[in-house]
Amino acid sequence: MPLSEPLQAPPQTVSVALGERSYRIHIGSGLMASQVLLDRVDARAQALVVSNEKVAPLYADVLMKTLSAHFRDVRLLVLSDGEQHKHWATLQLIFDALLAQQADRRVVLYALGGGVVGDMTGFAAACYMRGVSFVQVPTTLLAQVDSSVGGKTAINHPLGKNMIGAFHQPQTVVCDLDVLATLPRRELCAGLAEVIKYGPIHDLEFFAWLEAHMDELLAGVPAALAHAVRRSCEIKAEVVGQDERESGLRAILNFGHTFGHAIEAGLGYGQWLHGEAVGCGMVMAAELSSRLGHVDRSFVNRLAHLIARAGLPTQAPDLAVERFLELMRVDKKAHAGDIRFVLLKGPGGAVIQGAPDGLVAEVIRSCQRQRLPSDLAQSRQA
Ligand code: NAD
Ligand code: GLY
Repeated sequence: MPLSEPLQAPPQTVSVALGERSYRIHIGSGLMASQVLLDRVDARAQALVVSNEKVAPLYADVLMKTLSAHFRDVRLLVLSDGEQHKHWATLQLIFDALLAQQADRRVVLYALGGGVVGDMTGFAAACYMRGVSFVQVPTTLLAQVDSSVGGKTAINHPLGKNMIGAFHQPQTVVCDLDVLATLPRRELCAGLAEVIKYGPIHDLEFFAWLEAHMDELLAGVPAALAHAVRRSCEIKAEVVGQDERESGLRAILNFGHTFGHAIEAGLGYGQWLHGEAVGCGMVMAAELSSRLGHVDRSFVNRLAHLIARAGLPTQAPDLAVERFLELMRVDKKAHAGDIRFVLLKGPGGAVIQGAPDGLVAEVIRSCQRQRLPSDLAQSRQA
């Protein structure tokens, strides 16, 4: 579509209010061919589109065409696909491409892909020449509702997930809802984990909406996905606007992640998807919250039921309890090796606190034994 043609429906925008680093999240259809890609960008110079071997064949052409009408030099770098490539060697490929392009400080990086591409491109932008601009063009549900917003960028270390990184905000975020149509079902489900998390920690009305509309979300109904993306971005923007660098409140967005990151690292990156690990991690964190008396068991069951309906695992993997604890001690929220969890404090609220190792071990064992109701187990296999 030529840039001069109006979009069928104007995109919705959500603002992330961070003073001079404020930016907009654009959500809508047909945005890969839209001027919103140039929001807060100096489009006279060079651009580097960073994508991967799965996403580039689908969407790089249209994005490159849009950008080529403005930038004098637009190049494409295609990385290997997968969480197991989110490390130093892949990051180095981005620096290699920037230097080969003789990119100067005005270069703009475009992250075209899911959270893996987004986190690595953002980190490269934070480091190259001590910081250049970048734009997030998230293509997974997970990236549209979470990872593209808020400026956390990172790579993994074999001993800990996302341990090497920087805070670096994008110039803008462009969520083109059309791209979700090519997303494999397993990835859609993984994205739903990060959507669901906003309910129990912040917005019970949204949680109830998700319970009512889960079937439509799984069927990829555009209006349902649009609402889920928009409400998730609004909540994330509100939290990040109050605590950009996670000195307090922002940590609640890590609900389910302490257990989840241990699952990812313990099983080997890429075995369980990030969203799957977070889904199971939320059940574990809710179980711990209940055992500490913070939330009723009925709410833990309600949450586990929704997570299972979203096609996500609710039973913890067979990882030794000591290994779980060891991995959680290198979580970024830990203080001097003391694990700190995001726990539910009544439905709709969250608190960050530690818990005795013995109790955490009991929770791990009980979640490893937990079996899904048979109707949900069957729908998960479908
Ligand atoms: P991902 O980037 O690996 O993408 C999932 C899969 O979908 C990949 O195979 C990808 O190539 C493919 N894909 C992407 N878009 C597609 C499309 N439109 N059609 C078909 N296939 C497509 O994984 P993810 O779930 O997007 O992101 C997970 C990562 O995000 C993790 O590394 C996690 O740590 C990170 N994360 C970061 C933050 C943050 O705040 N920075 C928040 C949450 C998660
Ligand atoms: N995904 C958690 C955060 O951005 O803080």
